[in-house]
Amino acid sequence: MKVIVKDNEKQVAETAYLLVKDAIIDRQYKVLGFATGSTPLALYAEIVKGFQRGELDFSDISTFNLDEYLGLPPEHPMSYRFFMESNLFGKINIKPSNIHFFDGLTDSVEAECDDYEDLIASMGGIKLQILGIGRDGHIGFNEPGTSLESRSHYVTLAKETLADNQRFFSKASDVPRWALSMGVGTIMDCQEILLLATGEKKADAVAAMIEGPISTMCTASALQNHPATTVVIDKAAASKLKRLDYWMQTADDYNEMYDYLLAARHRYGLE
Ligand code: PGA
Repeated sequence: MKVIVKDNEKQVAETAYLLVKDAIIDRQYKVLGFATGSTPLALYAEIVKGFQRGELDFSDISTFNLDEYLGLPPEHPMSYRFFMESNLFGKINIKPSNIHFFDGLTDSVEAECDDYEDLIASMGGIKLQILGIGRDGHIGFNEPGTSLESRSHYVTLAKETLADNQRFFSKASDVPRWALSMGVGTIMDCQEILLLATGEKKADAVAAMIEGPISTMCTASALQNHPATTVVIDKAAASKLKRLDYWMQTADDYNEMYDYLLAARHRYGLE
């Protein structure tokens, strides 16, 4: 895991934008995974600005979102599809037919989940998946106790998640109790992962994800075994990391390491 610690939320979004831009422009990634929630909003605003500056073109990019509430149609203002339309997809040149979501009104949860997995696989897999993290360490809607090998599935939302999400609904009883979500295994299959977290409320979950044991009790901890995960967090979210100094030391030292190696090769007559 690469851990990048920034001073504040704005810097987290700016750093994440540069990483997304590199993935789209340098690595030519065509299949991206997006997440909802408050955390990626600032990144989405940066992506919209980048698109308006002419830096990004989404005309041949396809997307998969991580999860969707059960029981809400796509045009419902609290659906994740609506969230993505309002905050990103409606503001860039992505083709509607290239946007993929779970159908929250499916007549078969099992068939819907199987179809989602098949569609992702048929497109060669997700190249870059953006993630947030829940206070209970969930990624997607994979609550504590979910198998780290799970594929797309229906989820019974935990009390903490319902409480966190209530702020978006007029009353508690309106919050859907179930959702469809990519599984932890589905997320682990993504080629690269970019996880964002900001604020002190996420500090325990971030510490468990990065330094805790790999456990279903914090599904984000599975990412310790993912070969290409970058975590971009602010100081508040990093505040409970025991090895913060080490993470900060390693975050940006790739070029420095090569400079050092080149100098050493020169010193020993190899360059
Ligand atoms: P948040 O949600 O960004 O709204 O905090 C994150 C998550 O639950 O994954």
